[in-house]
Amino acid sequence: MTEAVMRHGADAVILGRKLDRLTQTAEELSRLTGRTCLAAQADVRNPKQLQDAVAKTVEKFGGIDFVICGAAGNFLAPISGLSENGFKTVIEIDTLGTYNTIKATLPQVRASKGAYIHVSATLHYKGTPYQVHVSAAKAAVDATSNVLAVEEGPHGVRSNVIAPGPIAGTEGVDRLSPKGGDNALGDMPAGRYGDVKDIANTTVFLFSGAASFISGQVIAVDGASEHLRTTQ
Ligand code: HXC
Repeated sequence: MTEAVMRHGADAVILGRKLDRLTQTAEELSRLTGRTCLAAQADVRNPKQLQDAVAKTVEKFGGIDFVICGAAGNFLAPISGLSENGFKTVIEIDTLGTYNTIKATLPQVRASKGAYIHVSATLHYKGTPYQVHVSAAKAAVDATSNVLAVEEGPHGVRSNVIAPGPIAGTEGVDRLSPKGGDNALGDMPAGRYGDVKDIANTTVFLFSGAASFISGQVIAVDGASEHLRTTQ
């Protein structure tokens, strides 16, 4: 998502817990796009670290136009086998992390009349086994984005959600899909998994002027897989 926006002229700051991996990725993104990408170490559960990252961003680039809230923790666990701390950890990363990121960035995004994209999922539209923690967390992310869109619309801020379906080469398909690997292809009306470019292209669209009247939407990028009723 960041690479696509950078290819369209943006500079970027990427956040995460592991500075060595971030720095490597930031260098690669700069090299690929010809723009500037910085790395800032921050755990989205830590508001102070997010505020420091925002300060670093503003010092370097003068402001913030776009924010992607994409931090997520996930593993497969049944309700009966999931600890309270396991549930809480994912809620804190996905939901509280989204809230913390919004709080840290909103003054800057208001000033630029910018936009948010939150990365959610489609698994909470139905009951997805072993995913109670993420389903609860992502439903809350969708709701948070909707409220943000309504409250901040008068300030010129837009907020939308991208809900990716199964995307090839990601943790969601390789490690977390209950069906796993190619076994899930029968659930895809398009006969293929999504590509990371499908998410990247939607990102560029939602941040562009072409989407200036689109806010408060949850956009599934899933090739209609959520609408397919399969006989088992
Ligand atoms: C059961 C687990 C667990 C597992 C962690 N926990 N992994 N429980 N099964 N596999 C429990 C721990 O036992 C502990 O509870 C609590 O969660 C906190 O674990 P920690 O390791 O101390 O926390 P932390 O270091 O903060 O890391 C947690 C984590 C990490 C971020 C959730 O384990 C993780 O899963 N990282 C992968 C992140 C990832 O894949 N992100 C992409 C998501 S893609 P106790 O009770 O023991 O103290 C995605 C797409 C959705 O979400 C679509 C899917 C189909």
